[in-house]
Amino acid sequence: MCGIIGIASRKEFESNDVIKMLKRLEYRGYDSFGIATDTGLFEKEVGEVRHVSDNRCTQAIAHTRWATTGKVTKENAHPHSSCDGNITIVHNGIIDNYLELKEWLAAKGHQFKSETDSEVIAHFFEEELKTCDMRHAVEKFFALVKGEFAVLLIMKGDDMIYTFKRGSPLVLGIADGMNILASDIYAFSNRTNKAVFFSEDEFAEVSAGGYKFYKYDSQLVPLTKEIQVFEWESKESGKMQYEHYMLKEIHEEPEAAARLIDSMKYEQKEKMNELKKMIEDSKRVVFVAAGTSYHASLLGVYFLNKAGIESHAIIASEFRNFTLLDDRTLVIAVTQSGETMDVIQALHGIKGEGVKIASFVNVPYSTVQRMSNVSVNICAGQEVCVAATKTFVNQVVALSYLASLFGYENGIEKIPDKINSLLRQEEKIKGMAETLKNVRDIYIIGRGFSYPVAREIALKLKEIAYIHAEGMMGGELKHGTLALIENGTPVISLMPEGDNHIISNTKEVEARGARVIVVSNSSFDYESIKIPSEDEASFSILATVVGQLLTYHVAKEKRLPVDKPRNLAKSCTVV
Ligand code: BG6
Repeated sequence: MCGIIGIASRKEFESNDVIKMLKRLEYRGYDSFGIATDTGLFEKEVGEVRHVSDNRCTQAIAHTRWATTGKVTKENAHPHSSCDGNITIVHNGIIDNYLELKEWLAAKGHQFKSETDSEVIAHFFEEELKTCDMRHAVEKFFALVKGEFAVLLIMKGDDMIYTFKRGSPLVLGIADGMNILASDIYAFSNRTNKAVFFSEDEFAEVSAGGYKFYKYDSQLVPLTKEIQVFEWESKESGKMQYEHYMLKEIHEEPEAAARLIDSMKYEQKEKMNELKKMIEDSKRVVFVAAGTSYHASLLGVYFLNKAGIESHAIIASEFRNFTLLDDRTLVIAVTQSGETMDVIQALHGIKGEGVKIASFVNVPYSTVQRMSNVSVNICAGQEVCVAATKTFVNQVVALSYLASLFGYENGIEKIPDKINSLLRQEEKIKGMAETLKNVRDIYIIGRGFSYPVAREIALKLKEIAYIHAEGMMGGELKHGTLALIENGTPVISLMPEGDNHIISNTKEVEARGARVIVVSNSSFDYESIKIPSEDEASFSILATVVGQLLTYHVAKEKRLPVDKPRNLAKSCTVV
C-alpha cells in the first residue's frame, strides 16, 4: 500500500509544502517517495519522505511507497511517466493484469523504465490518448484493468488532475483556493475539514477552481457528490518529550482508555446500544481483523463467549475460506486504520448476503467505517508508530465494555489507573530488556484470555525488535514446540493468579533449562513483572503493556528504527 497526494491550487505553493503533507501519509509506506509538479520538478528517492529541491508550482502529485511489485529502487519509486514524458502518474494499489498490459504496450513500442505494475498506467494513457479523449481512455481503463487502484494523472500543459479509483482509498479535500486529493483525510486535516469521499469506480477531473465527478458503469456518467464536514484532530503534538512515537503512544494509553470509556458511556452510548441490539438479533458474531487487531478480536471472542454470545474471530485474509455466513451472522470488523485491504475485501460482497456489518475503528471516515451499519470509534487518537499499542488497548477496552452490556463484568473503569501504575515499573522492564537484546528466539505462553496476549507480545517482538518470537497456548507447547526449548531459551509465561495449568506448562520449560520470565498479578519465585490486575480484561491489557514496553526497550537497545520498522507499514491497503 502507498500514500498519494495531488494538489491543484489557484495560488502558487512550494514543493516542500506537498512533502509536508506526504509525510503525514508515511504510515502507509516509506520504502521510497517522489514528486512531480507542473513547473518541471520531477524527483524521486529511496527511503523516507524528506526535503526535495525547492520549486514553486500550482499543480503537483506525490507518492510514498510500500513496495509490492518491484524492488525498493529509485527507478521503481513513483511518479512514473509515459515515453514522451507528457503524462505522469502516481498509483496506490495493485494492477493484477499488468504483465498482459505491459506486453501489449511494449509491442506498440513503449519503453519501460521500472519493474512496477504502476508504470503501465502512464503508457496505457499515452497509447489510448492517441485515438480518443481522456474520458473514453478512462472508460477503457476501468473496463480492461483488474485489481485495485487509486490513480492521480497529470499532463504537460493541462491544469487538470485526472483521478480514478477502484478498491484503494481516495478522498478530495476542499481547501481555500486549493483542491487536495489524498489517500486519506489525515493528509490535509490541518488545512480543511471539508472533503468529498470517492466510492468505487469513480473518476474525477480536479482543477484549482473546481471538480467534476463521474461514475463508471460500462461508461462514465456525471455524478453529483456531497461535501462532508469532518472532525479530526488537526493539532500535531509530535513526539513531545519522548524519543519515539511508540513510547509516547504507550504513555498515552491511560488517557486514551479513559477517553474511550467516557465516549462509550455517553457520546457513543446510542451506538453501543444499537450494536448490542444487533448482537441480540444475531445467532453468532464473527470478528474479522488482521495483525494486532486480530489479537484484540480473539479477546473479544473470549469476553463475548463468557457472556453467552457465540463468537468467532477469523484473520481477514482467510475470511472467505473459513467462514459460513448467513443472515443470522453479525460480522464485526476490528481495524485501527479502517483501510486494511484484507478487511475491506472480506467485507465486500457479504453485504449482499444479508449479513450486517459493525466495526470498531480508530480513523474516522475510513473505508471500513463507511461500509458499516454501525461503527464505534475507539477514540485512541492518531497513532503514528507502525506498531499498534494504544489502539490495541482501546480495542480491548471497547470489546470488554461491549461484553459487559451482556453481563460479563470487568473493572474497565479502573484500567486507566492500572496502566498508570504499571508504567511506573518501566525502569525494571527496561533492565530486563537489556538482557534480551541479543537473543534469537523468545516464546510467550498463555492460556484462555492470556493466549491472545501471548500472540500480541510475540508480534511486537517480531515487528519492532526483529526477534523471532512465538506466542502460543501453554497447553500446546508439549505437542512439539517444547523440542525447541534449550538451556537459557527465554520463555515469558503469562500467569494469572490461580491458573495451575500455566504453572505446570511453565515448569515443563523450566525443567528443560528455559529462562522463565513470569508476568503475573501474583508473586512467584521467578524473574517476574507483577501487574496490578484483578480481572481478565485488565490482566490482558496490562500484560500486553508489559510486552509493549519490553519490546520498545529491546528495540532501543538494538538501535532499531522503532517507529518505522523495515518492510512494514501502518496500514496494508493491498491484499
Ligand atoms: C499491519 C500493521 O499492517 O496492519 C499492524 O503493521 C496492524 O500494526 C495491522 O495491526 C492491522 O491494521 P488495522 O489498521 O486493520 O488495525
